[in-house]
Formats: sequence, structure tokens, C-alpha cells
Amino acid sequence: MTAPMAVIGGTGLASLDTLKIAHRETRATPYGEPSSPLIWGELAGQTVVFLARHGQHHTIPPHKINYRANLWVLHHVGVRQVIAVAAVGGIRADMGPGTLAFPDQIVDYTWGRHSTFFDKDLSHVTHIDFTEPYSAALRERLIQAARDLQLDARETCTYAAMQGPRLETAAEIRRLERDGCDIVGMTGMPEAALARELGLRYAACAVVANWAAGKVPGEITMAEIERNLVAGMDKVKTLLMRVIPVLESA
Ligand code: HPA
Repeated sequence: MTAPMAVIGGTGLASLDTLKIAHRETRATPYGEPSSPLIWGELAGQTVVFLARHGQHHTIPPHKINYRANLWVLHHVGVRQVIAVAAVGGIRADMGPGTLAFPDQIVDYTWGRHSTFFDKDLSHVTHIDFTEPYSAALRERLIQAARDLQLDARETCTYAAMQGPRLETAAEIRRLERDGCDIVGMTGMPEAALARELGLRYAACAVVANWAAGKVPGEITMAEIERNLVAGMDKVKTLLMRVIPVLESA
């Protein structure tokens, strides 16, 4: 049997209408409840399992997401590759709203989240290598698919994982910029690290929803974010249709 691929959907992607749904599966885990049932289905000829990171009705804020349960359940049902879709704010000048971005690095500013599976019943202390936080092979496939489709996408960038749920101050964004960050979101960590701990191939597809705080005059509104995400997520769905058939299902 070939392993299913997983798509974790973020803000703006609470369901995947391109997925031909076969069944829904609710599972408990040793870490509690995942954010949503697993939606099993077929996409572009492959078995795909979809999980809504913020819940089916977008009710779970970033700092309350049970990242461990989400990653554990995917691994448990046989998933080996995860495409994590996430809305972000754009910091770098070429990261305007609607742009897709495939981050290759992360700076983690989150706190107080359960960020490891290796914290009890330890016979020895484990430190995973996280030099390259995303799977190079999976990133390569995503980048190639975006090129083939001539999508406006950034192929390298650094993702700042912020605690949220509030958006940042302008000074915080200036600090992130000095730290070398290009995009800012709230859910990239500990998700990526937990995926690595489980040995999953994991890569992120970020969709820029707004200019980060202070990058343009005025307030950031949810209406603006939602508007930009509608167009951005259409691009993501097109990308998924293209990339999923070419992923090795090992
Ligand atoms: N900051 C943090 N997370 C986000 C943003 C932002 O500006 N936009 C969408 N997710």
C-alpha cells in the first residue's frame, strides 16, 4: 500500500474542495484531540488526508492548537509526507499579498507550546538535527510545480513563528527584519519540529495574506486578510493538483 500524503490547511483553507472525500475519521491520541477529523480522499489520483489546523470551523487560535496530536495522528495513520499550508504576513519587499512562498528557514519566537515528543519516559535525551527545518526533497517538488504553473512564488525565505494570536507591532516587525525574517506567521512552530521528530517529510507553502505591521500605512484588517487569502488559496489548490501526483509515495 502506498502511504497517503497529508495536507494541513491553515487560515483560508479549512476544507479542500478539490479533494474527492472518501470518509472522515475521528481519532484520539496520547496527546489529546487533533484539531479536526481526518478527511480522507483522493486528489489527482493519490490518497490524501486533510487536517484543518484551526478546526473545521476555524475556532482554534494558533497558541491553542494541539500540534502534537495533529502530527502524531498523521504519522499514526501512515502519512510520511506533509504539505503545511499557512497564511503569513509579508515582510520582505517582494512578499506582497497573494504571493506564495516556500520557506527554507525558521526563527522560532513562540513560547509555552508543547514543542516536543521527547519529554517523558526518557531513557536518554534526544536532540533532533534541525539545521534545515524543511524537507529539501519536498520543497524541491513544490518549487518545481510552482515553476511549471508559472505561479508567482518565492523559492527561499525565512519564516518567523510568532506567538499570536494578536498581530505584531511595527517595531516587532522591524526586529524580525533585522533578524533576517522575510515572512511572519503563528503556526509554523512547533509544527515543523514535531514533524522532524517523527521523521516526516514536511514542507510549508505559505500564502501572504497582508503586508506585515508597519510595512504600509494603516491597520491590518481581517477583511483584507480574508480577501487576499481567497485568491491565494486558489493558487495553492492548483499547486496541490500539480505536485501531489509527482510525490514519491514511499
Ligand atoms: N502576522 C502573523 N501571522 C499572520 C499575519 C501577520 O501579519 N498574517 C497572517 N498570519
